[in-house]
Amino acid sequence: MADYQTHEHDVLVIGAGGAGLRAAIEAAAGGASVGLVCKSLLGKAHTVMAEGGVAASLANVDDRDNWKVHFADTMRGGQYMNNWRMAELHAKEAPDRVRELEAWGALFDRTADGRILQRNFGGHKYPRLAHVGDRTGLEMIRTLQDHGVHQGIDVHMEVTVVTLLKDGDRVAGAFGYDRERGRFRLFRAKAIVLATGGIGRAFRITSNSWEYTGDGQSLAYHAGAELKDMEFVQFHPTGMVWPPSVRGILVTEGVRGEGGILVNSEGKRFMFDDIPENYRSQTADTPEEGWRYVQGDKDARRPPELLTRDHVARCIMREVREGRGSPHGGVFLDIAWIKEKLPNAAEVIRKKLPSMYHQFKQLADIDITTTPMEVGPTTHYAMGGVNVDGDTQMSSVPGLFAAGEVAAGLHGANRLGGNSLSDLLVFGQRAGHHAAVWAASHSAGTVDRAEVDQWATRTLEPFERGASAEAPYQVQHDLQDSMQDLVGIVRTESDMQTALERIAQLRVRAGRTGTGGNREYNPGWHTALDLDNLLTVSEAITRSALERKESRGGHFRDDYPSKDDAFASFNILVRKGADGAMQLERRPIPQMTAELATIIEENR
Ligand code: FUM
Repeated sequence: MADYQTHEHDVLVIGAGGAGLRAAIEAAAGGASVGLVCKSLLGKAHTVMAEGGVAASLANVDDRDNWKVHFADTMRGGQYMNNWRMAELHAKEAPDRVRELEAWGALFDRTADGRILQRNFGGHKYPRLAHVGDRTGLEMIRTLQDHGVHQGIDVHMEVTVVTLLKDGDRVAGAFGYDRERGRFRLFRAKAIVLATGGIGRAFRITSNSWEYTGDGQSLAYHAGAELKDMEFVQFHPTGMVWPPSVRGILVTEGVRGEGGILVNSEGKRFMFDDIPENYRSQTADTPEEGWRYVQGDKDARRPPELLTRDHVARCIMREVREGRGSPHGGVFLDIAWIKEKLPNAAEVIRKKLPSMYHQFKQLADIDITTTPMEVGPTTHYAMGGVNVDGDTQMSSVPGLFAAGEVAAGLHGANRLGGNSLSDLLVFGQRAGHHAAVWAASHSAGTVDRAEVDQWATRTLEPFERGASAEAPYQVQHDLQDSMQDLVGIVRTESDMQTALERIAQLRVRAGRTGTGGNREYNPGWHTALDLDNLLTVSEAITRSALERKESRGGHFRDDYPSKDDAFASFNILVRKGADGAMQLERRPIPQMTAELATIIEENR
């Protein structure tokens, strides 16, 4: 029998970024005893990488804004692949969730008359992003953490969950280990909320830190839940490209929201060259009009730098591929140019974009108030994830919920910036509430001790193979290279077939990786255990991307470069078959209500 510590909770929340914290707060408020598991320290989460703001139609800066416009923008951005019920709930509830956060102590920048200030972001018709400088995600995490620690939540820091445990069809708990000492932990729970974030570490260039290895998606998949829309991966257009050690770190879209422009090596503002038809009527014809929009002129239209992320990222790639890139393989993002317009430009930049100012000063020795930044696309966000019910956030496994980036649906084929922070507030709250309701009406399931023992043995296998076996790091690097080069921003059938072959080979190698030393903080062991998650999500992304023979949102195929109506009516779902192989299904998107369809028509 393995030696492990047991914890019992009504609701176990796995992942402690914004969605996990918000879910834990709500479940505790609903009377549930709550355990909150974080892979790293509490407060260290990718939520902080949503820097530029949280999207909510507060209408503080432009009174034409309302939930209907936000809903229509979200659906257009997602190319109508979205779960429209989630898009509706999100647009309706985001303002209340932001005000609630303010009541809990979150600081926001202010309008002249003292209301929460909102800024422009790509794909949002009106200035909609409530923000605090370029540190909005950080402020949200701080607030949720401060509020959460007073709710009687048991926090389990630096714990990795290696499997979910089931009693028949339903979840009954989870098994993992603490990363510091390597001791096993058994969690018994009536309901589980997955809030583990994304999959960025499956790619070489990413804004995601080490924790984001697709754990939640993989845990859900192996527990029998469905994954949806895995082909839609968001490559944020602006990550740092130089120096190499910081490649991929996010450069907030807030820079473009404040007037930053994208320029190629010939000094040309290339975003004016290619404006998609469905955004033409909303996009400025001239730089002058774009600047007027940034300055708040309600008659002006947005500059092309504020088109959706998928489009901007592809335009940048085109410039680089065609030889008009910057010295280190990106393009130039210039906010310093606003000195032509504003006498106090340097002061404005430092005030509105303090983190960007310090980031470039400290990491690249560049003063962004005088010098353009070099930027290029970075893997930022997974639109796909666990398929959930739009109202309750429960997956196809009874008692298993998911919220935030790990869940699919809200964003469809492409997420609008700032919708991630409102997503995690709205659906974190909903998941926490419904998990508590579920826990109150179900008794605890039974955990099979023999199964736990098997998992304990399996978890220790890298030690059995020892230090002379292949190290897990090389397998991880090879996977990241394959995904970046073969399943990245531009995809083809033959590249992705090659990726699938490599994933199969890497799986064999992963099963042979080993580590020396002991269980006390052992990064080689942790990396070996992460590999299955990375390989599972990589395979799901690749198979789904092969299945979608068109280009839409975050999924672009060079061999099928256009949108195809034949692919407009279904999502691609992935599940584990009885034989252990990955199965795909094309599932029709349910018909939208007449009321929502009218809103979309009215906002075209
Ligand atoms: O660019 C940004 O500040 C990122 C925001 C987001 O991903 O929502």
